[in-house]
Amino acid sequence: MIASDTAYPLLTRFDRRRHTEIKMTGFSAQWLALREPADHRARDQKLQQRLCVQLTDLARTEQRVIRLIDLGCGSGSNLRALAAALPFAQHWTLVDYDPLLLATARATLLGWADRLVSDAGTLTLIKNNQTIEIDFVQIDLARDIERVLAWPADVITAAAFFDLVAEAWLVRFCQTLRVTLYTVLTYDGTEQWLPPHSSDRAILKAFHAHQQTDKGFGVAAGPNAALIMERELAARGFGVTLAPSPWQIDRSETAFIEALASGSAGAVHETGLVEPAQVEQWLAARLAAEHCTVGHWDILATLNI
Ligand SMILES: C[S@@+](CC[C@H](N)C(=O)[O-])C[C@H]1O[C@@H](n2cnc3c(N)ncnc32)[C@H](O)[C@@H]1O
Repeated sequence: MIASDTAYPLLTRFDRRRHTEIKMTGFSAQWLALREPADHRARDQKLQQRLCVQLTDLARTEQRVIRLIDLGCGSGSNLRALAAALPFAQHWTLVDYDPLLLATARATLLGWADRLVSDAGTLTLIKNNQTIEIDFVQIDLARDIERVLAWPADVITAAAFFDLVAEAWLVRFCQTLRVTLYTVLTYDGTEQWLPPHSSDRAILKAFHAHQQTDKGFGVAAGPNAALIMERELAARGFGVTLAPSPWQIDRSETAFIEALASGSAGAVHETGLVEPAQVEQWLAARLAAEHCTVGHWDILATLNI
């Protein structure tokens, strides 16, 4: 169970000692920072390399900056994973509805860069000898996705975002998309904890019920999102490739395992589908888990013209 927040850890956190729920209004920067190393390790490298080849050809042929829009950018993890692998000048538009995460993204990217060129509106950085221009835009993608997809772009990208949205929104998105899509870490519904626990199955089932509630876009597609996208994009002439990108987490990332277990227990507790004492026992075992695998899909979709 559990899940990338895709999983909402830290949207809702289960406090074992006081049995209280702490609800936060959005994804916390702390949670996103905890998961960033596992996110970066999990990404399918072959799919990323295919994108890189496609964009390098484009940059060479057209002799211009490549433009990427990152949907639900959070604190900028997707840019940090991808930009350094792209050997050409880039312009990124980072989009989120959370102003605190956008501010965190700006600050974190300043620390990540090798050098700052300019911080006047558009942030211009140097990383690995590439120039990266970054704009930050606060917008509600539930309402305004068509507006965002009308902006100039060579690639629409996202990380850990599409499982939050509803099927009807995915159809809107796929109907409007006119450029390459590269999205990583869409939760696939699988999760395996070691050692196993007798409540794993019941907890995962309840977690899925929680995942498929409204996250602001209508009832979330959750683990079905990647397959819906594959179907909708293929029907509109895109060549679509899916590649697995599971989290592999062990005791070397104790804080991450604990946050994942607590977030999952909190979500399950909210559903009321599992007895609180059973959730508590499961959580106690999971805080000491040796290993956890959480499945995701990465997707590359290219318009066949
Ligand atoms: C799981 S986080 C992923 C963040 C980031 N992409 C990463 O990989 O760390 C989902 C992100 O989607 C954003 N988000 C959720 N609903 C949104 C909406 N309606 N409009 C814009 N952003 C939204 C959240 O604020 C959050 O930053």
